[in-house]
Amino acid sequence: MNIAIILAAGEGSRMKSNTPKVLHKICGKSLLTYVMIACRKAKINKNIVIVGHGKEKIMDIYKDDTVSFKEQPIYDGAPYGTGFAVMQGIDEVPDDSIVTILCGDTPLITDNTINELMTYHKDGNFSATVVTATLEDATGYGRIVRKESGNILKIVEQKDADDEELQIKEVNSGMYCYNGGALKYALRKIDNNNSQKEYYLTDVISILNDEGYKVGAYNIKDSNEIYGVNTRIQLSECEAEMRKRINNKLMLEGVTLVDPNSSYIEDDVSIGRDTIIYPGVTLEGTTTIGENCSIKGTTRIVNSNIGNSVYIESTLIEESTIGDKCHIGPFAHLRPNCKLGKNIKIGNFVEVKNSTLGDNTKASHLSYVGDADIGSNVNIGCGVVFVNYNGREKFRSIIDDNAFIGSNSNVVAPIHISEWGYIAAGSTITDDVGEGELSIARARQVNKTGWVEEKGLKKHK
Ligand code: UD1
Ligand code: CA
Repeated sequence: MNIAIILAAGEGSRMKSNTPKVLHKICGKSLLTYVMIACRKAKINKNIVIVGHGKEKIMDIYKDDTVSFKEQPIYDGAPYGTGFAVMQGIDEVPDDSIVTILCGDTPLITDNTINELMTYHKDGNFSATVVTATLEDATGYGRIVRKESGNILKIVEQKDADDEELQIKEVNSGMYCYNGGALKYALRKIDNNNSQKEYYLTDVISILNDEGYKVGAYNIKDSNEIYGVNTRIQLSECEAEMRKRINNKLMLEGVTLVDPNSSYIEDDVSIGRDTIIYPGVTLEGTTTIGENCSIKGTTRIVNSNIGNSVYIESTLIEESTIGDKCHIGPFAHLRPNCKLGKNIKIGNFVEVKNSTLGDNTKASHLSYVGDADIGSNVNIGCGVVFVNYNGREKFRSIIDDNAFIGSNSNVVAPIHISEWGYIAAGSTITDDVGEGELSIARARQVNKTGWVEEKGLKKHK
């Protein structure tokens, strides 16, 4: 059996946060989620997550997940350290299992690397295998000390290292593979006689070495994958690296990102070929974008589905569906639960909420469309307001195909405007309009000749 133990009990004090470190997000998902996804995609049968600081929040977020949580006691003076953390999960580790240890704060690890690590560990007949990386700047990491033979001897923490050891550029990633039995045996022997008074998991390596077990080191191909988050600066650096991964994948799939450094696209977003994303666009959640779209300006799209050949500029779209060839914006706002057909135009300063719009319908300027079911080929003039709320309840408006709503009209719901119904500009419509009827609901214009003169309002020179 292949087991993963993910360490996530640390306080993350350097984050200076009320949120547990592993719940901080990059590109829309928490650090811990990325590690769990990598385990799930890799050949791991069981995930054990060690929680301590902020455990309620973590366990609540993942309560529907198939992970097994183990709680590390956290109180003043309680034992601490990565070794102590692993001890909390050891009861669930059979002797003949392979245990991969990962940290909840290293989100860039991939399923590929986990699989390669397990293969390297098994093929080499090792009892323990450390994932190492060679870094230009090794500050903060435990250093890998090798024997003359080249085999690994031990890991020395930065705070316990002497000057010579501090020069070593090969570091401990904090990820390992162990044979269950060997891990259990060595954990019983570690102590906290070190500068931090912690139970170091790293001591397992020297203990196994001393007792003649075979210990290996797997030098990772892409050292970015070991990158851990201890501070908010590292959080932003991990975000940049994750964003680069997401963007590179999209570009290789045929999406143009005019400036990838200013495209903010989350991990679960999918985008079709030949779509062009201009700078300043943010795509979040489960958003899908079709082919041949252009998305420009400060547009943000959240959990929405966009069809093919859609043009969107400087717009906020939330939880909505947009059909092919629509033209949205600039400065439009589609609030949750809008369903737009094909070839629809939603122009400047138009807000749409909880409404369906049929093909070829247009609301080009300055309108509020709320709680409406609108057919095809409907023209919504400039400044039209769907009056959907009486202060207590919301009501729907039904507008059938080919209707025309003149500019600056109020459509007071509940209301039904039938096919080819025609609303004169400036009307406040409170009664249903029949098929093909013209409805005018405003005071008739009166022109009074000479009125200004009579009132003495006109000043003659
Ligand atoms: C650890 C390694 C170091 C390695 C580095 C890589 C040890 C002693 N040191 O150091 O060699 O280079 O990772 O990033 O292992 N945690 C618990 N319970 C605890 C303490 C920590 O669950 O009591 C968890 C933390 O939440 C974190 C992980 O273990 O996810 C690593 O802990 P951290 O304190 O960040 O270890 P480092 O000092 O970075
Ligand atoms: Ca760390």
